[in-house]
Amino acid sequence: MAYEIAATGRALPARRVTNEELSQTVDTNDEWIRSHTGIGSRYLAEPELANSELAARAARQAIAQLAEKTGASEEDVTAGLDMIIVASVTGDYLGGVPPTSCLVQNLLGARQAAAFDIQVCCTGFIYGLEIAAGLLAVNPGYKKVLLICSELLSRITDWTDRSTCVLFGDGAAAAIIEKTTAPSSGEGKRGLLRCILGADGSGGGNLIVRRGGSRFPYKPGEIVDKPPHIEMDGRAVYNFAVKSITETIKALLEQENLSVHDLALIIPHQANARIVQAAQKRLALPENILYLNMSEYANTSAASIPIALDEANRAGKIKRGDIVMFVGFGGGLTYGGALVVW
Ligand code: UT7
Repeated sequence: MAYEIAATGRALPARRVTNEELSQTVDTNDEWIRSHTGIGSRYLAEPELANSELAARAARQAIAQLAEKTGASEEDVTAGLDMIIVASVTGDYLGGVPPTSCLVQNLLGARQAAAFDIQVCCTGFIYGLEIAAGLLAVNPGYKKVLLICSELLSRITDWTDRSTCVLFGDGAAAAIIEKTTAPSSGEGKRGLLRCILGADGSGGGNLIVRRGGSRFPYKPGEIVDKPPHIEMDGRAVYNFAVKSITETIKALLEQENLSVHDLALIIPHQANARIVQAAQKRLALPENILYLNMSEYANTSAASIPIALDEANRAGKIKRGDIVMFVGFGGGLTYGGALVVW
């Protein structure tokens, strides 16, 4: 059996905010942001937009792509989804009550699908892929899992903190993972070859939304100056990111007995171009192997890798049989990588 990414989709809010526009309200400038991060703009959701709605839009794109590919109707593709997973740290409701995945299930009308959320910060897509393949492997009745990574980071961004607010954006992307009869190893192998997942909880405080959870809940009558927001030790996350990306790329290649020249593309988490370039230098990666789009979308956490994947897929940059690597890191601290034959 193989676990293949059969279709992808993405959705972004309408409003694109450039560095110049941001520097009118925050003490920053385009030169600093570009030179320190590679970011040029981000998309920010209008106040009325719910995460579940953006997630459903991305999902519909993937459903439409699969319908077109197979000749089935979109209703039939939707009716064929066995599980919906939403990876997000900015779900519609605190603590995921109700889970955003259930709200998306309802919006899609995918009544037969079970649904649950995962919260793995920026590594959500990679954890989600492994979970999706695992579910398809253990349940003989399952054929298709819809994995959606959707974030409204603008809702937990401190817009007075220039060291974090310039980094983040909103966005969603989806992938339909399908169980097929192709082999997953050996001659003609397809789909997900291998995942590496990891975590280092000792770094949990380096990227944290401190208030609003059960550890430090808001108290009745408490006056707060800011809503729950991301606090980050940028330098600590940077160092962790470079190390974990470098080691994960190396380990994945070794474990699958591949050289970097066997890969068509590496799609990293789109947090900061400098992080990826540092890993590229350490591993002497070929010039054009990394797919980078943070200049357009900034860091959309879990959504960043699948947004880039959908973009590359729709632009025809990945062909059937290509080997693609995903690699990510984020709050937790978590990290991971995956190798897929397209
Ligand atoms: O998904 C995971 C999410 N997290 C990450 O990926 C974060 C990883 N870390 C990073 O990407 C980098 O550490 C940052 C981009 C966050 C910061 O870059 P840096 O080169 O580590 O800058 P820094 O924090 O050391 O700050 C350097 C200077 C400081 O000024 P002084 O103290 O040297 O005068 C900051 O106040 O840059 C200043 N600065 C800014 N200046 C203009 C910090 N943010 C800004 C800003 N605009 N937005």
